[in-house]
Amino acid sequence: MKFIIDDANVEAIKALYEYFPVEGVTTNPSILAKSGRQPYDVLKEIRGIIGQDADLHVQVVSKKAENMITEAAKMRAELGENTFIKVPTTREGLKAMKALAADGVKITATAIYTPMQAFLAAKAGAAYAAPYVNRIDNLGADGIATVKKIHDIFKNNGLKTEVLAASFKNSQQVQELCAYGIGAATIASDVMEGLIKNDSVVAAVEAFTKDFEGLCGEGKTMENC
Ligand code: E4P
Repeated sequence: MKFIIDDANVEAIKALYEYFPVEGVTTNPSILAKSGRQPYDVLKEIRGIIGQDADLHVQVVSKKAENMITEAAKMRAELGENTFIKVPTTREGLKAMKALAADGVKITATAIYTPMQAFLAAKAGAAYAAPYVNRIDNLGADGIATVKKIHDIFKNNGLKTEVLAASFKNSQQVQELCAYGIGAATIASDVMEGLIKNDSVVAAVEAFTKDFEGLCGEGKTMENC
């Protein structure tokens, strides 16, 4: 499972890139709004941090297919051809996906709440389909089960589209999908940090240090004992 950062906070992205095995960044209009910065200013800075070859997913805002397509052209011109154009999986979105895919544009179908949306997006040429785990849970449905079903539908139909699971609120949701072999997950910075936060681990490491220093002296390590 590929881990991608769902954030537009450049400091958080820099920190996660330094410490975590991450492979790209996703944004949406709400995430960009949260940054409080002009969209292309912050997106270009993110592109600079992650490099030209890394996956950067940026969403169109228009509702009509024709406008989504012109937005996509501008985004690719500004942010590089390796930019995945996130297209909401609406009726107009499907039309845009078909046209963009025919031109070789990389597409991430987003705002996916049902398996059939994902299937249609895959057939329309999306490289990734992004179902919203937590938002599906909040509707009283089962986000994890929905993502697994989408994964199975893709495999059973020989579709190359990968699932990019999105909208996580906790480590358990990520772990469930990791165990199932889902292609990718885009995870908000705080949830990503939570994947490694564990007081028992901290206590174990502290005990190792204390025991070693008891043997060799304060500040000693295997480098200087
Ligand atoms: C990704 O494609 C979505 O934009 C994002 O993960 C939604 O996350 P949220 O439900 O936490 O807003």
